[in-house]
Parts: sequence; structure tokens; C-alpha cells
Amino acid sequence: MPYLSPALNVMTTAARKAGRGLIRDFGEIENLQVSLKGPADFVSTADERTERILVQELSKARPGYSFLVEETGVIEGRDKTHRFIIDPLDGTTNFLHGIPHFAISIALEREGVLVSAVVYNPIIDELFTAERSHGAYLNNKRLRVAARKSLNESLIATGIPFRGRGGHEQFREELAPIMASTAGVRRFGSAALDLAWVAAGRFDAFWERGLAPWDVAAGILLVREAGGVVSDLAGGERALESGDILVANDTLHPHLLKLLRTSPRG
Ligand code: 2AM
Ligand code: CA
Repeated sequence: MPYLSPALNVMTTAARKAGRGLIRDFGEIENLQVSLKGPADFVSTADERTERILVQELSKARPGYSFLVEETGVIEGRDKTHRFIIDPLDGTTNFLHGIPHFAISIALEREGVLVSAVVYNPIIDELFTAERSHGAYLNNKRLRVAARKSLNESLIATGIPFRGRGGHEQFREELAPIMASTAGVRRFGSAALDLAWVAAGRFDAFWERGLAPWDVAAGILLVREAGGVVSDLAGGERALESGDILVANDTLHPHLLKLLRTSPRG
């Protein structure tokens, strides 16, 4: 059974409650695809409602804690030592297109250290949890990153820059050596789930640039607690702050970092 600290218990309860709303909203999406207006407004309403439920539930259980949330930004609480970092709907583009691959991501920081994490895909009811020093879990199963030692056999997840995000050329330059050296590259559209799937050993590694703290905070703790290595793309400790991230097991991580850094702009 997963280790459930009181805080993690509160976070999973909030994620499950908000998840029920997302399931209902996702059920509407198919009908909206064919409407003239499209589902975009509906999705941003769903996003905002999910965020509201999460902030409400968490601040009821932990009054005074601060928040960093995708839509609202910073909510300063009286308690300066605790902060929830939340993405109510990571994988919005998937949600909008009726693709059932998105998640609620909630991390808790204590004095700047990530201590608890939840990533929840409500559609397939996969609840990833981690507590600092107590391991990572998928539902009731303890997680461990994949043990693969050879890049040849490794499956690598990434995020491709989209319209409005820079770095398109840099991405092409980084992708070239990775696709030439590995068993495959995947782009599934939710950084939080990409990280959770590395923790679960489904992907061997994940890298992306330009992410926000709410995309990666919970996933970083999941990967660490599953025995993986987390760094920024200079090999340093600033993945959360910089938004540039590489995660893998300890054998693959240095090889991938070298490939990414020796690309022309790495
Ligand atoms: P979001 O779904 O919460 O926006 C994938 O590359 C990551 O980038 C996702 O975690 C996604 O989070 C974020 N992202 C932000 N804007 C995006 C966009 N227009 N298209 C795809 N992903 C986007
Ligand atoms: Ca996100």
C-alpha cells in the first residue's frame, strides 16, 4: 500500500473529487467537436472549475497554505513554509481534442522542498503518488524507473514546441541524435503524465524545455522517489525553476544529457 501522509491523503481526495468533474466534462467534448464554436470555451471553463475545486478543497483542509496555480497564479497564504503547486488540467490540448490523456497535478513544497505529489489521470483512474523518502506508487503498486542500460532499447518521451513557444530549431537539433540512438520517441502532450510514466518504467526517459513549475513539480518527486535522476538540461538542479528538464535512470541519464548538450545549440 502507498505511504499516505496526512497531506498526501488530502491531496488525493481533492484530486479524485476534481477528477469526477473532469470525467463529466470530457464526456461532453465529443458532442462539441462538431459544433461551430468548438469546445475551446467549454474546456477553459472546465479548467477553471477544476482549479477552483482543488484550491477550495485544499485550503479547507490546510488553511493558510500558499498556492502556485496555473490559471490564478500565486495565492499568498499566512503559512509561508507550505506551498501547493497545481496544474488542474495538464494535457489541455488532448482534452480539447477528445484524447483521454491528461491529468491533475498537485505537488506540496515544504520550505522549498518537494515533499508530496499526486498526478491523477481520471479517465483511466491511474493515481500516481509520492512522498519524499517513502517511494512512489501507482494506485497500490510501488514504482521503480525502468532498468534499461542501453540507449538502443530505450523509449524516450519529449514535448515538441508548439505555436507561440520558441525553440523550434533547437528542438530539431536535439531530436536528431536522440532519434538516431534510441528505440523511439513519443510525444503524448502531458508533461505531468510523461514524468509519471518515467517513474512507472513505461518510458525510459523524458526531456522538454520551457515548461512551467506546475507542469513538472509533482512529476519530479514521482521520478526521484522511483529511483530516477532529475536534472535541468545543463545537468544542474534547477529543473523546476528553469522549466528545462531531463529525467531517466542513473545509467541512461548521463548519456542522454551528453547527446542533448552536444547538439549544436545544447
Ligand atoms: P497544459 O496542457 O497544461 O497547457 C506539453 O508540451 C506540455 O506543455 C504540457 O504539459 C502542456 O500543459 C504544456 N502546454 C502549454 N501550452 C501548450 C500548447 N499550446 N500545446 C501543447 N502543450 C502545451
Ligand atoms: Ca500544464
